[in-house]
Amino acid sequence: MKDNSLMHLGLIPDGNGRWAMLQGRPRHHGHTEGYRAMTRIVMACHRLEIPHVTVFALSKDNLKRQEKELSNLFDIFCRFFTQDMFRFHALNIVINPIGDFTSTNHQGVIESVKYARDLTYHNKGMVLNIATAFSGLDDITNSVLSLYEESDGTIPKDKDKLIRSLMIHSGLNRSPAVDLCVRTGGEQRISSFCLMQLAYSELMFTDILWPDFTTRDLERYIAAFYQRSRRFGLEASE
Ligand code: IPE
Ligand code: MG
Repeated sequence: MKDNSLMHLGLIPDGNGRWAMLQGRPRHHGHTEGYRAMTRIVMACHRLEIPHVTVFALSKDNLKRQEKELSNLFDIFCRFFTQDMFRFHALNIVINPIGDFTSTNHQGVIESVKYARDLTYHNKGMVLNIATAFSGLDDITNSVLSLYEESDGTIPKDKDKLIRSLMIHSGLNRSPAVDLCVRTGGEQRISSFCLMQLAYSELMFTDILWPDFTTRDLERYIAAFYQRSRRFGLEASE
């Protein structure tokens, strides 16, 4: 029987723009507040000793958004991956940025992502995957391509071995599968988040808009996770 403790939490922090608009503020204000919420929640995850956290900060599809909105988001990412890094580094957190950063066409993002990864690479604490310009479908195809290139075209025929090899080539290769995925903002979809790692994840959706999501909410969802019966294909007991 698999150990059923919460090893990996996935977060889809949606509803930031709507949160701002409800207050008659511009959408980018919601992203700034959303970043504050993200820092708060990540620090709470650290206190709760959750070993792996993945945050869907920006999907690749989000790059279709208006330039003004993206420019504010990129400023936030640069700040997180450089100036604010000392807080995370001091807690021994590994920052693992995943996604197609070059597609942002933003030199600051590309360089700051590298800075954060290098700075925290050898840390031994919580692994924080930050999915930026990320697509789970891309992650799968990238895994297939790099496995293929590395193995001179001979990929494992054994399916269990193949999926293990694909996981090793995924951007999330420093973390196990996602145990619990929480999406705020009312939508009930996965939007190409880390697809392979979500195969047996417990999914939770809430109407709470991300900037309003508190550490108490987090604790509530974690408690609900421990009430779920995870069977990984085994029959249900009464
Ligand atoms: C999600 O918040 C975070 C990012 C895409 C950066 P949204 O910007 O999608 O907020 P809503 O869903 O439009 O309210
Ligand atoms: Mg949204």
